[in-house]
Amino acid sequence: FTSETYPEIKRDPKFAQISEDHVRFFKELLGKDSAVIDGVTKDATDDIEPFNGDWMRKYRGHTKLVLKPGSTEEVSKVLKYCNDNMLAVVPQGGNSGLVGGSVPVFDEIVINMSRMNQIRSFDDVSGTLVADAGCILETTDNFLAEKGYIFPLDLGAKGSCHIGGNVATNAGGLRLLRYGSLHGSVLGIEAVLPDGTIVDDLSKLRKNNTGYDLKQLFIGAEGTIGIITAISVHCPQRSKAINVAFFGLESFEKVQQAFKEAKGQLSEILSAFELMDRPSQGLVKKVTDNKEPLESEYPFYCLIETSGSNSEHDNEKLETFLEYVMENEIVSDGVVAQDETQVRSLWGWREGIPECLGHWGGVYKYDVSIPLSELYDLVNETREKIEAAGLKGDNDSFPVVDVVGYGHMGDSNLHLNVAVRRYDKAVEKVLEPFVYEWIAKRSGSISAEHGLGLAKKNYIGYSRSDNMIGLMKQIKNLYDPNGIMNPYKYI
Ligand code: FAD
Ligand code: MLT
Ligand code: ZN
Repeated sequence: FTSETYPEIKRDPKFAQISEDHVRFFKELLGKDSAVIDGVTKDATDDIEPFNGDWMRKYRGHTKLVLKPGSTEEVSKVLKYCNDNMLAVVPQGGNSGLVGGSVPVFDEIVINMSRMNQIRSFDDVSGTLVADAGCILETTDNFLAEKGYIFPLDLGAKGSCHIGGNVATNAGGLRLLRYGSLHGSVLGIEAVLPDGTIVDDLSKLRKNNTGYDLKQLFIGAEGTIGIITAISVHCPQRSKAINVAFFGLESFEKVQQAFKEAKGQLSEILSAFELMDRPSQGLVKKVTDNKEPLESEYPFYCLIETSGSNSEHDNEKLETFLEYVMENEIVSDGVVAQDETQVRSLWGWREGIPECLGHWGGVYKYDVSIPLSELYDLVNETREKIEAAGLKGDNDSFPVVDVVGYGHMGDSNLHLNVAVRRYDKAVEKVLEPFVYEWIAKRSGSISAEHGLGLAKKNYIGYSRSDNMIGLMKQIKNLYDPNGIMNPYKYI
């Protein structure tokens, strides 16, 4: 997709075109060559391309300038200059976002946070970490692991996404069920508003009822009101005992029963409950050709992780749970990882799904939240509609490879994905607005964790009332009156 794919979106003429004078200012400010990638005054098109395209290779902008500030003061000066000169900007973290929010639509300047990548402090009694927004999630978590702690978020893109990007998207990930949302674990934020104001709310306290909790506005704002430059986050101690089990189940009813039992019997040691359907695992198998964890195929699989402090106690609980779900025929077959390699391998069947789905060319992604009882009906109904339209088949004449469902069962968060050989209007017409209407009818969320970005910009009304959208616009106008922050996106 490029801006041409959205003919209704026109470049806003209120924004200035980037000139050589602007580039000169930024080069003087940021100094080092590596901090300014400039396609305005020299031919740097090749260097710029990765900043223009997203992870899915679905959205492509046309920026000619990428800035990599190295400090909060530099971010402040950059934004103030952009605001004074009506230059539109796109904040960019690890560029792993899945809704087209992290890349420009036209020629907006990319402000990439990768140079702000220092841990500022860590308190190993309270578990409070203060770190620059551009720290990579996995690197940060490795730092914490050495201290016996864990970052309260984990997701498949950990090797590239930034903790600032995670907060800007309010990412959910694989262990939300255990550690909760970033709205709870983020204790403080340092951010810069478009006029250069530094929002210095980098509190390290868990309790702080002194007026409006303004940092919450930046969590999940997707770069529309300011740039997050640092966060303070409450990190739990890393569990010493980790167990991972992988189950095959005959129906979605049984998946629900297994979830209920897992919550009841594993209670405080349950740290993940993930769902995968057979089609999703079939596609992972086709791409990786790895040996599957279970001998037979089942319509549904789930991955259960426990983490606790006492392996004897945890093993006992897990064994009792396993016996129960097997004896009561809730689970048809299962395997428990015996070592760290098997833990990684089992997780691979879940975490590997997004990458494998893109193998044939493209994916239509829907990241939804609906009551658990109806969660999988959406996948069945979507598959029926795609099949009835004659769009799914085994060879190149069919656009659709398969319709799959997986996700964070523990959070009622389904990922409905349609893997395609090419993006195709006929497929799109079957999917939209069908999926959004289906969700709205059940008062669900059309974006449970990925945000809205550009992809869902036209559909916010399916999950939010006009009043709520109006209130959001008031906030946007208050913080970003010139509208330079991530324009053309959801707000
Ligand atoms: P980017 O993609 O660079 O940016 C995302 C948005 O945040 C953009 O709108 C951008 O403008 C804004 N932004 C980035 N940094 C800042 C900043 N410092 N200040 C202000 N705004 C900023 N998401 C989930 O929620 N759960 C998952 O389980 C999950 N798994 C994933 C697995 C894979 C394989 C991939 C590719 C993606 C996955 N995602 C998941 C989506 C994505 O990784 C998350 O949204 C992540 O939090 C984005 O971080 P990022 O640094 O890459 O941000
Ligand atoms: C996941 O849970 O794997 C991520 O949210 C990415 C995706 O939805 O594909
Ligand atoms: Zn997810």
